[in-house]
Amino acid sequence: MSKLKRFDISEISKKVDLHVKFVKFEMPNPFMLSSAPPTTTGEMIMRAFEAGWGGAVAKTIVPDKTYVFDYANRFGSFKLGDNIIAFQNIEEVSKRTQAEWEADVKEIKKRFPDRLLVGSLMAEADPEEWAKLARWADEAGFDMIELNFGCPHGMPERGMGAFVGQRADLTEEFTKAVVKEVSIPVMVKMTPNVTDIAYVAEAAVRGGADAISAINTVLGIIGIDIDKMEPLPSVGGLSTPGGISGPAVKPIGLRCIADIAKAVKVPLSAIGGISSWRDAVEYMLVGATTLQVCTAVMLKGYRIVKEMIAGLANYLYDKGFSSPAEIVGKALPKITTWHDIYKVGWVAPGPVVPKIDYDKCIRCGLCHVVCQDAGYQAMQWDPEERKPEVDEEKCDACSLCMQVCPVPGCITWTERTKPWQPKIKGEFKPH
Ligand SMILES: Cc1cc2nc3c(=O)[nH]c(=O)nc-3n(C[C@H](O)[C@H](O)[C@H](O)COP(=O)(O)O)c2cc1C
Repeated sequence: MSKLKRFDISEISKKVDLHVKFVKFEMPNPFMLSSAPPTTTGEMIMRAFEAGWGGAVAKTIVPDKTYVFDYANRFGSFKLGDNIIAFQNIEEVSKRTQAEWEADVKEIKKRFPDRLLVGSLMAEADPEEWAKLARWADEAGFDMIELNFGCPHGMPERGMGAFVGQRADLTEEFTKAVVKEVSIPVMVKMTPNVTDIAYVAEAAVRGGADAISAINTVLGIIGIDIDKMEPLPSVGGLSTPGGISGPAVKPIGLRCIADIAKAVKVPLSAIGGISSWRDAVEYMLVGATTLQVCTAVMLKGYRIVKEMIAGLANYLYDKGFSSPAEIVGKALPKITTWHDIYKVGWVAPGPVVPKIDYDKCIRCGLCHVVCQDAGYQAMQWDPEERKPEVDEEKCDACSLCMQVCPVPGCITWTERTKPWQPKIKGEFKPH
């Protein structure tokens, strides 16, 4: 994308300062590990900090009396070729005791005082239980608390996790119960498995939340073994819907962060399918200040943060920005309602049509096939020259040809050469 020189980490850090302020914390960069297997122990979190992560949310901690166990085989994946695009887990929260975490927090904060260490908490459906656990986390030395109102499997069956996040009244009540008990900031982690996430985020803010993180996993079933006729992940033949994460959930996460950013004023921490600095930039552009990562680290290790840091810094430098804060929410005003888009005047067939770069075209014919069978029969096929050709009169500018073209930059927009009229069926009045 950039034609400018690409600097490595040591060079670029002299040109762009990646420090971000999140609530009241200064972090060396906006990249955090989300509450998940990569933050299972203090030793792991410290290794992540050595690799360069700016912060971490510990694996969700529950009171010692609350039972926790896991199933052997709790992951599943959905692949396209060799690439995992969606991941499922039916894993539960931390199996470690509060005392074990207390010792870890002390050690982590001693060695890495400049990193944001967040304690993810989950208590039984009782405000007093939440308050007690939050008091403990504050005294243990966490910098911030994240309330896990989002785990979609196992916990909701007993009034925890998404059971809370799917009810705005409980979200507000439990947030309030925690906020009044602690001196450290409180972030609420939202579930995407609701009809209107902004509505629930508003409830969290009414309860006193200092920040919102989203999304927790999307409830789904990763697949069915058609030989054994068993749902996946199969635990001795049985399964249950679980949390889907990874690249496939990024579009859902982006929409959730954008919705929340429009509804509330508190800072946001984005989660969901972040695998590269590009994903991170996209989330920042719709309103996120920090970025949390789980699945990408589970698939590639802590080291991916180095490329994320260098990529973000180079992007900011290329675009003429000197800090991440300058791009937060920049794309947000452009996310509007379907009807509002009318004002730009691109009612189909619109002012543009596809143009084919014949130097790049590999003559696969896919654009022609899909336009015939799912478009407007505008992409013709020249049998003599064996190449596709756009029939401007028929083209409705839907962009399907561009979506399926396997060659980047081969099909692009160009202005129509002939006058065109918007096609509108029925009576329409602009809103
Ligand atoms: C195996 C696994 C375990 C997880 N455990 C927790 C957890 O204990 N607490 C929590 O808040 N989220 C948990 N999550 C959700 C992640 O923190 C994150 O919200 C979600 O995976 C989306 O981010 P990603 O696409 O980067 O993985 C878990 C996710 C996975 C894959």
